[in-house]
This record gives sequence, C-alpha cells and structure tokens, in this order.
Amino acid sequence: MIEVKNIRKSFGDKIVINNVSATMKAGQCNLIIGSSGSGKTVLMKCMVGLFEPDSGEILYNGHSFTEMGVEERTEVRKEIGMLFQGSALFDSQTVEQNVMFPLDMFTKWTQQKKQERVNEVLARVNITDANKKYPAELSGGMKKRVALARAIVLNPKYLFCDEPNSGLDPQTSLVIDKLIQEITKEYNITTVVNTHDMNSVMEIGNYILYMYQGNKEWEGSNKEIIFSKNERLNQFIFASEFLQDAKEMRMLEETGRIPHHRNIGDTPQS
Ligand SMILES: Nc1ncnc2c1ncn2[C@@H]1O[C@H](COP(=O)(O)OP(=O)(O)OP(=O)(O)O)[C@@H](O)[C@H]1O
Ligand SMILES: [Mg+2]
Repeated sequence: MIEVKNIRKSFGDKIVINNVSATMKAGQCNLIIGSSGSGKTVLMKCMVGLFEPDSGEILYNGHSFTEMGVEERTEVRKEIGMLFQGSALFDSQTVEQNVMFPLDMFTKWTQQKKQERVNEVLARVNITDANKKYPAELSGGMKKRVALARAIVLNPKYLFCDEPNSGLDPQTSLVIDKLIQEITKEYNITTVVNTHDMNSVMEIGNYILYMYQGNKEWEGSNKEIIFSKNERLNQFIFASEFLQDAKEMRMLEETGRIPHHRNIGDTPQS
C-alpha cells in the first residue's frame, strides 16, 4: 500500500500539487487521471522520490518514505518498477539486454540465472523470439511490453506506469492494460498508472484519483465514476456527446432512472 498525505509541490510561485492525499492499495490498479498539465507526472515523481515535495508525506507499507535516509530509500527503490512514458528502452541494446539491465545493476546472480529470469518475464508479457532484436525493430506495443518486462524483472512490490498507452491504438492499449492488471493481481503489486485514456479508466480503474489544476477533484472506482455528479470530471471523462449518452444509458440500466433532463431514446410526447 502507498499512502499520499497532504502533498504540496510548487515550482517558483506556481503551485503544481496542492494538498493531495490518496491511499493506493496492493493488488489493484490505482489510476491518476486528469488533463494535460494537471500534475499527474509531478505527483508520480513525488511518490517515487524523483521530486522532493515541499510538504506532506509518502508512506510505503506504513513506512514514511519522506523521512527515510538515503540507504533506506534505496531499499524501497529496489522494490519499485517503472514504466516510463515512451518506453525509454536503450536503443543500442537488444531486447534481452534491456530487460537484463536491472538484474545487472541490482543482483549478483549468475548469467544463467539472469537469462532464465529474462526469458520468464518476456514470456509473461507474450514476447517470444525477439530476444536478439533491437528496439527499432519492434512495434510500439511490443516496445511497451518489453518495457513492462523490464519494470517487473526484479519482482517489484510497486509498479509505476506513466501513460502506458500513449501512441498505441485502442486494441493494443487494451492488451497492455489487461497485462498490467493481470500482473498486478498475480503478484499483489501496488500499481499506479497515469493516464488520460478513457478506456483504461473504465477497464482497470479500481481506484481513480482525478486531478484538476493540481488539486484532487474526485476519487472513487470505475463503478462509481458512472454515477459521479462532479461536473469537471464528467466533462473530462465523458467529453463527447456519445459518451455522455452511454453514461446516461448505463445509469438508466442500473437505477431505472434517467439522471437529468435529457431523455434518451424517448419518443416525443404527443
Ligand atoms: N521540472 C519542472 N519545472 C517547472 N515546472 C514543471 C516541472 N515539471 C512540471 N512542471 C509544471 O507542472 C505542471 C504539471 O505538469 P505534469 O507534467 O505533472 O502534468 P501532467 O498532468 O503529467 O500532464 P500530461 O498529461 O501532459 O503528461 C505543469 O504546469 C508543468 O508545466
Ligand atoms: Mg505527464
């Protein structure tokens, strides 16, 4: 579990994260959503220690990351896997060299043991026969899967994914989302995903934190989001008229009532 308590972060006199708190549980996908510039990446970077918050506290399994010294933080960092925006693979290294990198950095395993682990995680993300390929030879979706394999190779307790679907088509996005969700459940990982992908929100959003201009505007699950009356959230998530209609139909199904003045599918009264 990761707890975020009253985090504030400014750059100069611009407040970017304004008193945000959240509890992100293990074995589920915790999403940070919001429009561009709302503070998702800055919040994630505060959580992993790439940025130092101005005030507030981050706790990993009840231990204050904020108050830890360098050595203790390094221990927590070993338990963190990160999937960066744009995959961030090393172009001059093969697929297996990329995935092996964290093992080279953090373990003293034999080459054979490392090779076995690399093959295991590559199989887990359904990449086979690509060990000797270079990133330039892979499709966008394959790159994401290799990056995911690298992020989980050390068996992390915490997995951070910043925009894992950027640049992917909807179907491939779904494959990546499902994979992240499966891995999260299988290994009981506390997973944090930054996204503005509407499909991801609905598919994997066990917990959703909606950021608006640095503030926590709403929190809840993908089930609750359908019923949210938060105007800003609704405008963000159900941006198109089509999605507004879908939301209202879903509410109608669940409650037997149409939420507000719009009457979908009604025949005009004579
Ligand atoms: N290193 C930095 N120095 C100064 N300002 C920054 C820095 N990093 C981010 N910001 C500002 O913080 C705000 C939030 O940025 P952030 O990258 O968290 O947005 P985001 O929600 O991740 O957006 P996107 O969806 O485009 O990735 C923006 O106004 C941005 O300009
Ligand atoms: Mg971002």
